[in-house]
Amino acid sequence: MDKIKVPEDVRNYLMEAYSLSQQWSLPNERGNYESAKVLGEIREVAVIGGGTMGRGIAIACARAGYKTILVENDQKALDWCQRELDITYTREKQFKRLDDQKILKIKSALHFTTNLEDLKNCDLIIEAVFENMKLKKELFSKLDRICRDDCIFGTNTSSLDIDEMSLCLRNNTKLVGIHFFNPANLIKMVEIVYGSNTSQNAVATAFEVCKTIKKLPVLVGNCPAFLFNRLLAVYLEQTEKLLYIYGLTPQHVDEIVRNFGFLMGPLTMADMNGIDVMEKLKKENNWPLNPIETELLKRKRYGRKTNKGFYKYDEKTHKKENDMEVEQIIREISNGIQTNIQLICDQDVINFLLYPMVNEGFLCLEEGIIQHECLIDIMFILGFGWPPSIGGPMRFGRSVGMDKLSNTLSLWSSLEPKDRAYKLSETVKKAKLESLRSKI
Ligand SMILES: NC(=O)c1ccc[n+]([C@@H]2O[C@H](COP(=O)([O-])OP(=O)(O)OC[C@H]3O[C@@H](n4cnc5c(N)ncnc54)[C@H](O)[C@@H]3O)[C@@H](O)[C@H]2O)c1
Repeated sequence: MDKIKVPEDVRNYLMEAYSLSQQWSLPNERGNYESAKVLGEIREVAVIGGGTMGRGIAIACARAGYKTILVENDQKALDWCQRELDITYTREKQFKRLDDQKILKIKSALHFTTNLEDLKNCDLIIEAVFENMKLKKELFSKLDRICRDDCIFGTNTSSLDIDEMSLCLRNNTKLVGIHFFNPANLIKMVEIVYGSNTSQNAVATAFEVCKTIKKLPVLVGNCPAFLFNRLLAVYLEQTEKLLYIYGLTPQHVDEIVRNFGFLMGPLTMADMNGIDVMEKLKKENNWPLNPIETELLKRKRYGRKTNKGFYKYDEKTHKKENDMEVEQIIREISNGIQTNIQLICDQDVINFLLYPMVNEGFLCLEEGIIQHECLIDIMFILGFGWPPSIGGPMRFGRSVGMDKLSNTLSLWSSLEPKDRAYKLSETVKKAKLESLRSKI
């Protein structure tokens, strides 16, 4: 936190968020940081799945000195995973985030296998296999028969219901969500998911491990997409409305957002995350695809990975370019669509993107998904790159003023009553009532 140059009031706010994140609790009265105990000493950790996330998690664990076993399906996948790890070490060395000594330490702590039986002495297992409930349940059922009774199971799922996942276990209290962010070896933020069956001691163990691997864990409750992706989905949905309803181009939207102070525009980010990944997230949660997503998916424009998404990317240099094809799609889809909410200037566009996100944050607080507003902010600063000077989404909302925020959101809700982005939180409704009363 020392390296972040931020105004003193924001800095103090983030320091408070940091200490509240350690004093973890949720309004579920099933235990908190004071009553919970770490389940013994953690010495041996396994990561299952050596893909994008698994490799990053394994590096973080091995770097902290845990004996770390990385598991893949078969030898071919394991060979590929080791080649990708070597590429990562070289890149990290170039960026001076790793040196030869640290790489050696990681390599000597990392072990590879294709045999789940090798995990019988593990204290913690984190799965990072494909986002598929059946696959994850089958895996945990096998591990349940192999591992010690006191071994904690963590899942890196970004959207699946961990209560349902835990049902495959003989003791369903030992499954906890440990949701890392990509790239997992670098991003400090980890969302710890306290499922309805999860024991307080499993949560405490996840917190302890995160502390050891130098991550900042924040506790959230189990809900579709958990907290971070739930707010992010609102932000991206609003972004895409700017294209398919208002006819704005990706570069125009990204430019407005960057001018506001974000390092990256939302459509550049969407291309990096993958439009196919968003499709999976939506499918899992029964959220409908919007017209622009449907059209891009139909054309296999998944983002950077296919060199085409909201933008196109040069095959050799990977340089981002505007794409006339996307602009044509936007023109066709948005043509003749009625715009009930009026957006006149760039600030209106920013409000359109961020106000519903703030409202979603209030909904999460009301549902008991997270304990404090400032924890949402620290998650977005450390997990999303939200500029600390703007303080995170909730602090941004407060700085706008609850009066203005609630009046605007109430108006949008009345104009678009069926749109779930404008389903008002009680906090916003109360602020609207107070605003009305103050005018009488
Ligand atoms: N990619 C992200 O940005 C991101 C971010 C947060 C969470 N997640 C979640 O992390 C998990 C993994 O995502 P990813 O992007 O790393 O996927 P990926 O496709 O890059 O990697 C998955 C890996 O799991 C391996 N695998 C599949 N079944 C296996 C099995 N039975 N045993 C051992 N290995 C097996 C595959 O061979 C593959 O290498 C998913 O649940 C995803 O939702 C992804």
